[in-house]
This record gives sequence, structure tokens and C-alpha cells, in this order.
Amino acid sequence: MQTAMQRSAILAGGLGLFLGCALMWLARPVPDGEPVVAPLDAEADVFAPPLAADAPQDAWGAAVRRGERLIQNTAAEAPAHVGNGLACRNCHLDGGRKAGAAPLWAAYPNFPAFRAKNQTINSFQKRAQDCFLYSMNGVPPALGSDELNAIEAYAAYMAQGLRLGESLPERGFPKIAAPPLPFDEGRGAVVYAEQCAACHGEDGAGQTLGETVYPPLWGARSYNWGAGMATIDKAAAFIRANMPQGMENSLSVQQAWDVAVFIDSQHRPQDPRFKDSVAATRAAHHDNGFSRYGTEVDGRKLGDPGQTPPSGFAVGN
Ligand code: HEC
Ligand code: HEC
Repeated sequence: MQTAMQRSAILAGGLGLFLGCALMWLARPVPDGEPVVAPLDAEADVFAPPLAADAPQDAWGAAVRRGERLIQNTAAEAPAHVGNGLACRNCHLDGGRKAGAAPLWAAYPNFPAFRAKNQTINSFQKRAQDCFLYSMNGVPPALGSDELNAIEAYAAYMAQGLRLGESLPERGFPKIAAPPLPFDEGRGAVVYAEQCAACHGEDGAGQTLGETVYPPLWGARSYNWGAGMATIDKAAAFIRANMPQGMENSLSVQQAWDVAVFIDSQHRPQDPRFKDSVAATRAAHHDNGFSRYGTEVDGRKLGDPGQTPPSGFAVGN
């Protein structure tokens, strides 16, 4: 048994080590002219969420472990709710644990919250429903369903020890600086061919060997036009901090923006909020510099129902 004094000595030692590492990180050399973006998986990442495998051997622990399986193998665990070739963990990396890849434990203490996208207070489950609808191009499980209860149990279990309302820097994707030059899909195509196509395929469709090995980035089996990843700024931030896999933070800020606009200028399933016309849908949901929906790029009429795969269809997942 540790005494209270031993425990505070351990805590103080840990804090000192953390501060030392943080100072070393701040003092590290930075290449000329390159904006500083903190690599969140480095020394500064202090919160280590517990493993689902260590959750209690009871009904609660079973829900936590089911939640992890849903994040890892979404289509197998919830086939009626997935309309594309993606799993949650393709974007929420390391089973929703990786700092800087929208980790679910960092999200959890921030719900319920108001969300501009749907103009209402979102419970954690409602927020997860939106990723089923847009990122997974599917039909969301009902609030209070076994699936959403399990996903919430997993997130809550990992968030143990965090304070309610605490928005940590690990949450979401690390902020990316503005691009030095306006982003450009032509330059992005070159980055894509050199640094991404080997895994995600020249046609962006990813690679499947029985199951998805490399997830699709565009086309009928990818996220739809309503997804966060379909907005250029979010994609750029995700890509810079998390891709190419195994070489995170190696792209320049400019390359990350350029490849993001290249990916988000391709065909993908319709925005499920589509109403009346492409122009009306753009005006209602995409009227900003970070969405190419409703514009024409290299002869592709993005969002045009004549060229765009429908939303919410299970396409060979
Ligand atoms: C070595 C293979 C590899 C390379 C190279 C690579 N990726 Fe990925 N990428 C992956 C894998 C694997 C995942 C899913 C990660 C997981 O499930 O753990 C992924 C996920 C993604 C996702 C989110 C999921 C999706 O399908 O939308 C995006 C976006 C992405 N990569 C973009 C890129 C871009 C842009 C590049 C080039 C700069 C790139 N990747 C290079 C392997 C790679
Ligand atoms: C194509 C990529 C992608 C896939 C697949 C995906 N998400 Fe997301 N998710 C995002 C993006 C982008 C955000 C917004 C991150 C941000 O704005 O910081 C997000 C945010 C979230 C959040 C809120 C995070 C926060 O900090 O507020 C939750 C919860 C979530 N997703 C759950 C899920 C679940 C559950 C699945 C699978 C059913 C899933 N997501 C699949 C891209 C994806």
C-alpha cells in the first residue's frame, strides 16, 4: 500500500517529467518557414485510456468490448447501418484511441453539446448517429439501441478520469495552419500519385482483400458529401496529422491542403440532406470555401444526381 505522501511524490515526479518533455519539445528545431504543428502522439500525449480488454467481466464490460468491436469492424457488427466500405476506426484511428485522430475518449466529456450542423443539443449518441449517416453513408442505429449504447459505453470507459466539459488538445484533429499558397487540386494530384495511391489506389477506391485493407477515399464506397471529411479544412488537418500511414506529419502544410482538395473534388455519394436541387443543397449546407459540392471540377459536376452515387445504400461493404 502506498501512503498519501508516496502517491503525491510519484505525482510530482510525473508532472516534472511531463513538463521537462514539453519544454524539450518546444525547444526542438523547426524547419525554416514551416508552421509549427504539435505532433500530438509525441511526448505531450499524457492521457492513456484504459484498454477495453481490462474492463470488468460483467454486463458493463461486455458492452464496452462490444463498443470497441463496433468501432473496429463496423460493417460486420452493424451490417444494417453501414452503407459504404468504411469502419469507424479508419478515421478514428487505433480503435478510437489515437490522439489527434478524433479519439472517442476526448470527445466523451464534451457531450451533450450544441452542434451548429444540426442546430440542436446533441447527446453523445446523437453525435455518433451523424457519423453513421454521413461518414458511413448509412442508416444510423436508433438512440438507445444496443449498438449506440455499446459505443457510448466504450467511449465513457476510456474517458475515466477526465473532467466533464474538459476539451483536451488531443480532441479532434490538430489545427493546421493556413496554406502558404491557395490550395490546388492539380498539385494535390501529384502528391496523391506519389504518396497515397500505393495504398488507397489510383482510383481512390482503396483495396479490399475479403475485408477493407486500405479504405476508399472517394467513389461509391466512401464517405458521402455530408461528412466532415468532405470539407477540405477537416481533411487537410486529418491528413497532415495521420497520413501517409506510418509517416504522420511528414507532408508539408501545403501538400496536406493540396491533397485534401484533390480528394474532396472527386465523386462521392450524395449528401443525404439533398433537397430540390444541387444549387439549393449547396446554398443550404455547402456555401463556403471548404466544400466543392455543387461546383464543376475537370468536367465532374460534383453532387449532380446524374453523376453522383446515391446516399445511404449498402454498396458491397
Ligand atoms: C501505407 C499505406 C497508406 C498510405 C501510403 C496512405 N494511407 Fe491513408 N490510410 C491507410 C489506412 C490503413 C487507413 C485506415 C487506418 C485504420 O483503419 O487504422 C487510412 C485512412 C485514411 C483516411 C481516412 C479514411 C478514408 O478512407 O477516408 C484518409 C482521408 C486517408 N487515409 C488519406 C490519405 C492520404 C491523403 C494519403 C497520402 C498523403 C494517404 N492516406 C496515404 C493507409 C495509407
Ligand atoms: C470518413 C471518416 C470518419 C468515419 C468513417 C467516422 N467518423 Fe466520426 N468523425 C469524423 C470527423 C471528421 C469528425 C469531426 C472531428 C472534428 O471536427 O474534430 C468525427 C467526429 C466524431 C465524433 C465526435 C468527436 C468529438 O470530439 O466531438 C464521434 C463521437 C464520432 N465521430 C463517432 C464515430 C463513429 C461511432 C463512427 C462509426 C460508426 C465514426 N465516427 C466514423 C470522421 C469519421
